[in-house]
Amino acid sequence: MSRPTSGIFKTSKRIRLGIWGLGRGASFYGACRALNIDVVAGCDYNAHMRAAFLNHNPDAFATAEAAEFLKQDFDAVLLATFCPAHADDAIECLRAGKHVLSEVTSFHTMAEGVRLVEEAERSGLIYNLAENYPFSAANMWLKAKWDEGLFGELVYAEAEYVHEILTLSYTYIDGTPIIPGNQAHSWRSWINYHYYNTHSLGPMMYITGTRPIRVVTLPGTLRLPGYVMKGIASMGAATPSLITMSNGGLVRNLMGPMTSDDSIARYWGTLGAARMAGQGLQLRLGGRGNSPMMEVHPTWPAFTGLAEKTGHGGGDFWTLYYFARQILEGTPAPFDIYTAADCTIPGILAYRSQAENGRAFDVPDFRDLKQREQYRNDHYAQPRFDHREGLFPKSAANDPLALQFARTMRDLVDQGAVYRQYRDWTKVLDECANPANLVELCDKAIAVLPRLQATQAAARQIMERYPESEAARVLGEMLAMSDAPKTSKSAYAKVLQQERARLVKYVATFHAEQAKQAKAKQKVNLSFSPFVTTWRLTGPLPRPAGGIAQAPLVRPLDRKLRWQLIDKTIPQGGVPDTFVNVHQITDTKDGMVYLANRFNVGKAATYRLCLGHDGGCRVFVDGQPKLCQAKRVNPAVPDRTCVQLNLKQGTHSVVVALDLDRGAGWGIYFRWKRKNITTDFPQRIG
Ligand SMILES: NC(=O)c1ccc[n+]([C@@H]2O[C@H](COP(=O)([O-])OP(=O)(O)OC[C@H]3O[C@@H](n4cnc5c(N)ncnc54)[C@H](O)[C@@H]3O)[C@@H](O)[C@H]2O)c1
Repeated sequence: MSRPTSGIFKTSKRIRLGIWGLGRGASFYGACRALNIDVVAGCDYNAHMRAAFLNHNPDAFATAEAAEFLKQDFDAVLLATFCPAHADDAIECLRAGKHVLSEVTSFHTMAEGVRLVEEAERSGLIYNLAENYPFSAANMWLKAKWDEGLFGELVYAEAEYVHEILTLSYTYIDGTPIIPGNQAHSWRSWINYHYYNTHSLGPMMYITGTRPIRVVTLPGTLRLPGYVMKGIASMGAATPSLITMSNGGLVRNLMGPMTSDDSIARYWGTLGAARMAGQGLQLRLGGRGNSPMMEVHPTWPAFTGLAEKTGHGGGDFWTLYYFARQILEGTPAPFDIYTAADCTIPGILAYRSQAENGRAFDVPDFRDLKQREQYRNDHYAQPRFDHREGLFPKSAANDPLALQFARTMRDLVDQGAVYRQYRDWTKVLDECANPANLVELCDKAIAVLPRLQATQAAARQIMERYPESEAARVLGEMLAMSDAPKTSKSAYAKVLQQERARLVKYVATFHAEQAKQAKAKQKVNLSFSPFVTTWRLTGPLPRPAGGIAQAPLVRPLDRKLRWQLIDKTIPQGGVPDTFVNVHQITDTKDGMVYLANRFNVGKAATYRLCLGHDGGCRVFVDGQPKLCQAKRVNPAVPDRTCVQLNLKQGTHSVVVALDLDRGAGWGIYFRWKRKNITTDFPQRIG
């Protein structure tokens, strides 16, 4: 029975797909359904992964044998096997006549890269790299704008993939401890993060349309605890490299498992700049360092509903979409074999650069036969950790205790972190904005403690039996992280309970104090009307001859400029929201900033408008000049300049003109004050 087509492609043809590596490979089932792709075969050494695969794809064929898998009748392979094995595995697929969508990275040595490129060329089949990070909504939008020239030429960028994945040294991606349990992960336990460079470099290349041409890096000798290798070869180290791009721009490409997973991308072009942190994208446009910086909300160019359902910010959908489109319609995908090589090679050479103490390397272009030739026999690679036998002596091969290692290490890392988070936050309790969060952390630490203590005991057993082993070393490092000498004592549960009781009291006092302060602030607000919150900028008005001393004609509520309330500082004894930092407003033609508002006065009376201003200042009410103060006064002391206004009942316009030229800081503070305080202050309109 023929399956319905997605309607995404012009053809009703379907792609028969085999998935090799059913850990990461399992992330794509949903996207396959949407893209004319039938998953017909799967291959993995792990029985539990094959079972899960068949659960999702009951009609498919599943095997642990690669040769048997590749013999099956299908068109393409999604290759998600061990990272350093991708080149040889992809070559096998191409030789079996299958198109390849390979997980990152493409190859592990330069020689493998040459072989893979040549096999892809020889086969005439499609090879794509499944580099997915370029295809978030923000990155795709940035690329479109970069192509339009909005940012000019790339000058410098900072690309990051900072991701701490210590437990993956001891588990598969689904959280299952490595089988057998006396081994470490076949590559995640040791690979230096320089080799995993495409999630940061890939988006940067894609957006700016440049390719890397030279790379350099320095060795860092520190690493996080819990990793099996020490020194610069360790997985647990920071790995930044500096890369020259084909247009002459520079990029700092940072990878690493560090103590905060914050990947921030920053791009500086000759015309503008972009900054991306998490989901937020901010641009600074206009070519000056202090041009306005604003947030934008980009969307995908198409398929939003499908993309947002898939992992990695929609990237998993797009990599599969481009691959399917190339097979079905012939349109080239962004990461073909050559771009894959451009992206992969700087990681290999960056590792080599750090190993050779900062020697810089040219990044060859594998499109060019001559450049390729030099690397045909370049097998340089990071020394590998023996993940099978490196943790324990041979005598431990079948020891049930040693087989508990992977599970013990996973649990010690996870459970120890729950305790560590709580303990370290208590060290900054007095400065914590919301100490109630610490009660939550304490509850988690209390809940995990019995399990943590059992895991600590299991770890100590393994360490006592194999004290000289690498396994004992990493377990020891994690025991130290969980403060084992203290936390493993049975009385520690009581210690935590007592701390919790003290914390709860602390939080209650904290909230009472906050409520008191809020009440005191409210009192201030009652004495000074806080309604001045939505001032608007008027358009630039002609600067009067003779400067500020002469009152110009003012047209209140003229063309409005974009208005930014970027500083909500509350001056001493003041009122929130009325301090306006106009520092970033630079597009005034006459050096003045005009702030306009309208007020509804409920009762005719005398009011005072009090100001503090960093530049000279004029006030116009209903078009009439009411104040001209050339001298700047400190906006933090707002009542230095006051203008007394007899206001009738009804609506009035107020324009305040600030002279930026004379200002040092460009802030202004307003508040209304009645001479005799009554409750009927003017009401704000709009
Ligand atoms: N792009 C992304 O966002 C992303 C996310 C996760 C993983 N990945 C990549 O996907 C790949 C796989 O990742 P993973 O987390 O599942 O890692 P993994 O190395 O734990 O998984 C590889 C799987 O393939 C199986 N396998 C390997 N060689 C095999 C063979 N010859 N025959 C049968 N089975 C074999 C293993 O049993 C294992 O289950 C890695 O290269 C990783 O870099 C990419």
